[in-house]
Amino acid sequence: MGAALLGGMLKAEVVEASQCVATTRTGASAAALAKRFGILATAGGNREAAAAADIVILAVKPVNVSKVIREIRDVLRPDQILISLAAMLPLAVLEAEAGVPMAVFRAMPNIPVILEEGAIGLSHNAVATRAQREMVESIFRAVGVVAWVDDEQMDAVTALSGSGPAYVYIFIEAMIAAGLKMGLSRDISTRLAEQTVLGAAKHVRDSGLHPAILRDQVITPGGVTIAAIHELERHGLRSMLISAIEAATQHSRNKTRAMLDSLETPQP
Ligand SMILES: NC(=O)c1ccc[n+]([C@@H]2O[C@H](COP(=O)([O-])OP(=O)(O)OC[C@H]3O[C@@H](n4cnc5c(N)ncnc54)[C@H](OP(=O)(O)O)[C@@H]3O)[C@@H](O)[C@H]2O)c1
Repeated sequence: MGAALLGGMLKAEVVEASQCVATTRTGASAAALAKRFGILATAGGNREAAAAADIVILAVKPVNVSKVIREIRDVLRPDQILISLAAMLPLAVLEAEAGVPMAVFRAMPNIPVILEEGAIGLSHNAVATRAQREMVESIFRAVGVVAWVDDEQMDAVTALSGSGPAYVYIFIEAMIAAGLKMGLSRDISTRLAEQTVLGAAKHVRDSGLHPAILRDQVITPGGVTIAAIHELERHGLRSMLISAIEAATQHSRNKTRAMLDSLETPQP
């Protein structure tokens, strides 16, 4: 995700390669990033990179975020911006770990940021100024569509759009399988299924119409589409998706709550 964001930022010229430093755990990843983006990349140089930075973006797995913040906390400054991409780690925990009164942001991107077609939820702490919010928004606008939310809503954003591409991949996979079952070739099934999802999503976005209206426009009385929709309703596709996103939100909320509880429990 860090590499995808970096690629989008460089492509959109939000930053220049000479302004970016990436740090990784292994030398192989650092070398690959340096080669791919023409930036300075080091393994294990978190402290040095953070000390020299205006904006620090944490793109490690949630389980590693606290460890990395503790590594860099003594070089963090109030004039810097700290951005975490980690799921389930609320702003209050990031602020407590940082221990410096600084602007802290959370971003929940999704994987299409690789193509600058991401959907990104953003939240900020009370310290962040308007200018800092605009700066952070410009970074993420380079790789997709941005929505500001309260930090408490980040669990729902994670479940809807953060994980969302995985649900859509299943949908496309099933469409391809259906094409195969009906005797279409692999190539034709794949191309038709992917373009159908892409085109329908663009139609929803560009028309500004509710998808139910667009769906109704495709239905001919007594026709093919309504026969399929009847089957989808019978098997509960819509309800299944709502339940899936509800379950994912709850899962994220439970983890977030546990993080906040550990903050409230005095450490021995
Ligand atoms: N993947 C998604 O679709 C998605 C969506 C939304 C948000 N996110 C969030 O994005 C974050 C990153 O996820 P990911 O899927 O990109 O993880 P990932 O593929 O495992 O990448 C993590 C990166 O962090 C580096 N790293 C690990 N420990 C480090 C340390 N101590 N110091 C410096 N670098 C370290 C790793 O370096 P090495 O390569 O050398 O091991 C690797 O480059 C997570 O917090 C996740 O919640 C991901």
